[in-house]
Amino acid sequence: MTTTLTLVRGDITRESVDAIVNAANSSLLGGGGVDGAIHRRGGPEILAACRALRASRYGKGLPTGQAVATTAGALDARWVIHTVGPVWSADEDRSALLASCYRESLRVADGLGATTVAFPAVSTGVYGWPMDDGARIALDTVRTADTAVREARFVLFDDAAYRAFATALG
Ligand code: AR6
Repeated sequence: MTTTLTLVRGDITRESVDAIVNAANSSLLGGGGVDGAIHRRGGPEILAACRALRASRYGKGLPTGQAVATTAGALDARWVIHTVGPVWSADEDRSALLASCYRESLRVADGLGATTVAFPAVSTGVYGWPMDDGARIALDTVRTADTAVREARFVLFDDAAYRAFATALG
């Protein structure tokens, strides 16, 4: 099946799609950036679901490169898919882990039956990944993924991020 890749500038918490992806940390208990925005706008139901995951499947936290879904609480989306990006390192190539975030998020979306999914630029904020490289990895991974997701929408927070994704999309 063909997945259409779209780029928009904006706040991912405002997107009306089946699922939005959260650039979380392995604690699943919230933070800044996209994570903070999703929990603020989505309300306490999301955090409660994350706590339940920590009390069951993910006692040690969600490993980097993996993904797991919860309710989206008060958001328009039906689900939040939490993934943990790698922290950028100049000494070690962690690209495979970043690609895994996108691939695993799509796998979780397929399991849910979500066909429209919005992604932020995972790892490009607090985790320091260079935007151009993060954009290339995101788009290459989603473009070549085996998934039933019909639309993968990349929601870029500022002009520089949007331009980087537009350039990488070609
Ligand atoms: N909508 C879309 N994109 C956004 C939004 C938003 N509302 N807010 C920020 N961005 P970050 P990371 C962009 O830092 O680098 C958190 O504290 C932002 O400009 O959210 O994966 C977590 O709890 C950047 O381009 O995620 C973790 O501890 C991109 O989203 C840690 O940060 C990702 O920035 C994860 O760091």
